[in-house]
Amino acid sequence: MEKNNIAIKTKDLSKRFGKRHAVDALNIEIKQGEIFSLLGTNGAGKTTTIKMLCCLLIPTSGTATIKGYDIKDDPLKIKRIIGVSPQDTAIASHLTTTENLHLMGGVFGLHKAVVNERARNLMELMELEDRKDHVRNLSGGMQRRLSIAMALMSDPQILFLDEPTLGLDPHARKSVWNYINKLKREKTILLTTHYLEEADSLADYIAIMDNSKIISSGTSNELKQRHKNIQTLKIAADNIPSDVSADLKDKGITVITTVNSIEIKSDEIDIYSIINYLQTKNIKIKGIQMQEPTLEEVFLQLTGKEVKNESL
Ligand SMILES: Nc1ncnc2c1ncn2[C@@H]1O[C@H](COP(=O)(O)OP(=O)(O)OP(=O)(O)O)[C@@H](O)[C@H]1O
Ligand SMILES: [Mg+2]
Repeated sequence: MEKNNIAIKTKDLSKRFGKRHAVDALNIEIKQGEIFSLLGTNGAGKTTTIKMLCCLLIPTSGTATIKGYDIKDDPLKIKRIIGVSPQDTAIASHLTTTENLHLMGGVFGLHKAVVNERARNLMELMELEDRKDHVRNLSGGMQRRLSIAMALMSDPQILFLDEPTLGLDPHARKSVWNYINKLKREKTILLTTHYLEEADSLADYIAIMDNSKIISSGTSNELKQRHKNIQTLKIAADNIPSDVSADLKDKGITVITTVNSIEIKSDEIDIYSIINYLQTKNIKIKGIQMQEPTLEEVFLQLTGKEVKNESL
């Protein structure tokens, strides 16, 4: 077992499908009780990574340990301490919600009283109804909530949540975030998501993957600090004439203007020359604010792509 507080550690973990590198020499360390978010474009290798860590896929090369157990040597020990809510929810469609939860209890050999209590608590927490019909009739969002509840039935030390809020309505998404937050410190969580505000508010540490490799990592603040060059300058003023936008564009500055605000996103914002220009136009500035980049802006700059979420 690991003596330190590292729950998950990978060493050059790699997976190839034919000639395609799905995951290429991944090196991550996830501390116990931490929420670690793996972000990335479609096909970056997030699900493949999770599948290897859950011992569902054998790596082509490299290693990983979960609580000190090697994914190649100790898959049974690992499966007893992890819970996983897969990207493609793995629920038994011909069973009811309660039956699905009880099934998971059976897989882990839990005592009937424990199964009953946990199933009841999780149904309440995930706001699942005890419906009598089969889960194939549930909406996509309800099926996803059930999938998370199933991952929690064994009360695992380590939880893998592969896009847990995909397809959830904003209320349900918020309630899942609140719930994940409640598990913070108590469980180690590896979370993938395309909702960057989700990673921003929940994750202790973020790794951004692109094309099978991690291209940047750190806390949300560290990532934003590193990309200060994409900050936004907001200027509030009254009666901004419509030609301001075109004038600044001529100076090579892209702006978004309304009647009383100018927003400039730029790699290099020369505030003084902008203020000078606005003064020559007799525009009275009421306020200037420099905003840090959002995690989404950092992600877009790093990956050079829009976030593609098929469910959106
Ligand atoms: N069983 C497989 N056979 C062949 N290629 C695969 C297989 N599973 C995944 N891949 C490929 O591996 C790469 C990584 O896929 P993966 O599912 O890990 O991406 P992801 O980061 O989870 O993407 P998404 O955000 O779309 O869920 C992709 O190019 C994918 O097509
Ligand atoms: Mg995936």
